[in-house]
Amino acid sequence: MKIYIKSPGRVNLIGEHTDYNGGFVLPCALDLSIELYFEKKLNESHVNTDLGYSMNFNVSTPYQKSNNHWENYILGVINELKQIKTELINFSCIIKSSLPSGAGISSSSALVCGLIKGLAELNAIDLNNAEIINLSRNVEHKYIGLLGGIMDQFTILNARKNMAIFLDCKNLKSKFIKINFKEFKLLLLDTNVKHNLANTEYNKRVSECKKSLKVINDFCNKNYSNLSEVKDIDLKSSKNELGETLYRRVSYILNENQRVVKSVNFLENNKLKEFGQLMYQSHLGLKNDYEVSCDELDYLVEYTMKFDGIYGSRMMGGGFGGCTINLIKESLVEKFVEEAEKEYFSKFKRKLNPIVANLDQGIQMSLI
Ligand code: GLA
Repeated sequence: MKIYIKSPGRVNLIGEHTDYNGGFVLPCALDLSIELYFEKKLNESHVNTDLGYSMNFNVSTPYQKSNNHWENYILGVINELKQIKTELINFSCIIKSSLPSGAGISSSSALVCGLIKGLAELNAIDLNNAEIINLSRNVEHKYIGLLGGIMDQFTILNARKNMAIFLDCKNLKSKFIKINFKEFKLLLLDTNVKHNLANTEYNKRVSECKKSLKVINDFCNKNYSNLSEVKDIDLKSSKNELGETLYRRVSYILNENQRVVKSVNFLENNKLKEFGQLMYQSHLGLKNDYEVSCDELDYLVEYTMKFDGIYGSRMMGGGFGGCTINLIKESLVEKFVEEAEKEYFSKFKRKLNPIVANLDQGIQMSLI
């Protein structure tokens, strides 16, 4: 008997870098996924992927960081599970993926959540979604070095088909929003840029936000527990103490939170054009105030403005590469992609990967 897991990627309609600031996000699960097949083994464990990576090990060997970056996802998950149950069973795992990595659609969280879910089942460890989210975040923080929030994991575990999750990351309260874009589609354009500074810069933003919170709390004599709670008046009065850069970072977070709330309203009332405008504004904030974009992403967002049939565009995910998300008339997709691919290649000498995003349900498990 095998355990089969299908763990999807995530798209985020709006609400970027707000999750680790206790703010709002509006993500969905993608119909592209990582599939994992687990089976018990007696003496040794094997992991094989369709990308040509493979590893052999024994689960009882004490944890040691690997020089092969991707192996740390597996070793990290095993080590975290061992904190719950010391004796794990050896296993084989075959991994197949239709999710491009480094595209900002959360292939790493899909992998980690899939591994945790499958290995928990194999070892009869009872974990609920909240526990899987925590474990998965620990793996990414401790073994991969990305100090990310919980948006990706929450989405992967809880998403529903054709729904977005309006999630308050402060208390994990969520509401499902039905998505019906009618004659519009979500088109992702993967820049094929994978910045090796991405983790470092991401972590730098996390610490800038922590620092800003302390400065505002100290100066205003407040006790805000995260940046999303900060009142505009306190941000304004701390402007000098924060300095120009941190002030822009916090302004972005407060504005982006408001954009998420407005977006939900627009989407519930089928106001796609208005929602699209918020996507453009979100991109400007990410580019100018939060400074997590890059030339390729900016170019692609700006390029869409020439087309009447595109309502919105912005960079998606952590930034410094990855993809843009575009709200585009279905009838325009083919022509637009053809032109964008050509223009993008002639400017950056890189291939553009278009992905039409259909919204699917969250992680699925079955015994086969
Ligand atoms: C990455 C992180 C998420 C989130 C986004 C930016 O995907 O894993 O937690 O912070 O970046 O919105």
